[in-house]
Amino acid sequence: MSQADSAPPNTNPDAPERAYSDFTRSLSYGDYLRIDTLTSAHQPVTQAHDEHLFIAVHHISEVWLNLIVQELRAAMTLLSAGVTDAPLKMLSRVVRAQEQMTNAWEVLKTMTPADYLQFRSAFGRASGFQSAQYRMMEFLLGNRNATLLRPHQHRPDLYGLLEAALNAPSLYDLALRLLSERGLAIAPSVLERDFAQPYVQNDEVLAAWLTVYRDPERYWDVYELAEKLIDVEDNFRRWRFNHLTTVERTIGFKTGSGGTSGVGYLRKALDTVLFPELWQVRTEL
Ligand code: HEM
Repeated sequence: MSQADSAPPNTNPDAPERAYSDFTRSLSYGDYLRIDTLTSAHQPVTQAHDEHLFIAVHHISEVWLNLIVQELRAAMTLLSAGVTDAPLKMLSRVVRAQEQMTNAWEVLKTMTPADYLQFRSAFGRASGFQSAQYRMMEFLLGNRNATLLRPHQHRPDLYGLLEAALNAPSLYDLALRLLSERGLAIAPSVLERDFAQPYVQNDEVLAAWLTVYRDPERYWDVYELAEKLIDVEDNFRRWRFNHLTTVERTIGFKTGSGGTSGVGYLRKALDTVLFPELWQVRTEL
C-alpha cells in the first residue's frame, strides 16, 4: 500500500489533491482541446528569438478569424431566414473578437525591424495576403474581389469555399433583403445583383436606411442590426490601420513578402467601405 493510499482522506474542498487525476477513461483538458496538435504547429525555422512571437501572433489571429467566420456564417444563415435576435448576439461576439485581434498588435510591436530581419528570409513569399480565413471574413462581410482568389489556386478545397462565398450574398446583402421584407423599397437590381462584384452605393438603399434611422422604434431590429454592422466595420478599420502602422514601423516602404507594394497596398485598402449607406446616412440625418 502506498503512502498516498494510507493517508487520511483530505476533507478540505479547496485542496488541489482532491482534483481529478485519472484520465485513463475520460478526456483531459489537453485531449479535448488537442493542445498537442495546436502547439505542434508552432515551428520556428530559425534560431531568432522573435520568430516565436511572430508565429504566435499569426496563430492567435487565425484562431480568432476562425471564430469570426463561424459566427458570421451562423448569423447569416439565421438572417436569411428572417431571424434577427440571435444574429445580433453573434455579431456582438464578432466585435469582441475583432478587438482581441487588434490588441495583438500591441504584443507584436515589441519586435523591432532588426529583430524581424533575423528571420525574414525564412518565410520567403508567405504573407497574410494569402490567409484564407481572412479572405473568407472579407468576402462574408462584402469586400468582393475575384483576383483575391488567385493565391489559393494551389488549394482547391480552400479555393472552392472562397469562390462559393464570393458568389453568395454578403452580410450586407442579407441586411438589405431584410429591409425589403420590412416593406422598404429596395430595387430588384440591388437584391439580385451579381454578388461576385463589389457592392455599389445606391440612393434607394440610402433612403431606406434614412427611414429606419428616422424612426428607430418602428424598425428596431434592423436599426440594431445596422448599428452592429457599423461596430463591425469600425473595428475592421482599426485592425487594418494597426496592421498598416505595424508594417510601416517594421519594414518601412519595402515591398511585401506577398508581392504587393506593401504599405502602399495596405494604405489603399483603408479606403474600402463595406456598408457605404450606413456611413452616409449619418450625414443625411
Ligand atoms: C511585422 C509583422 C507583419 C508584417 C511586416 C506584415 C506585412 C504585410 C504586408 C507588406 C502585406 C501586404 C501584402 C504583401 O505581403 O505583399 C500584408 C498583408 C496582410 N497581412 Fe500582414 N504583416 C505582419 C503581420 C501580420 C499579422 C500578425 C497578421 C495576422 C493574421 C497579418 C495579416 C495580414 C493580412 C490578412 C494581409 C492581407 C491584407 C489585405 O489584403 O487587405 N499580418 N502584411
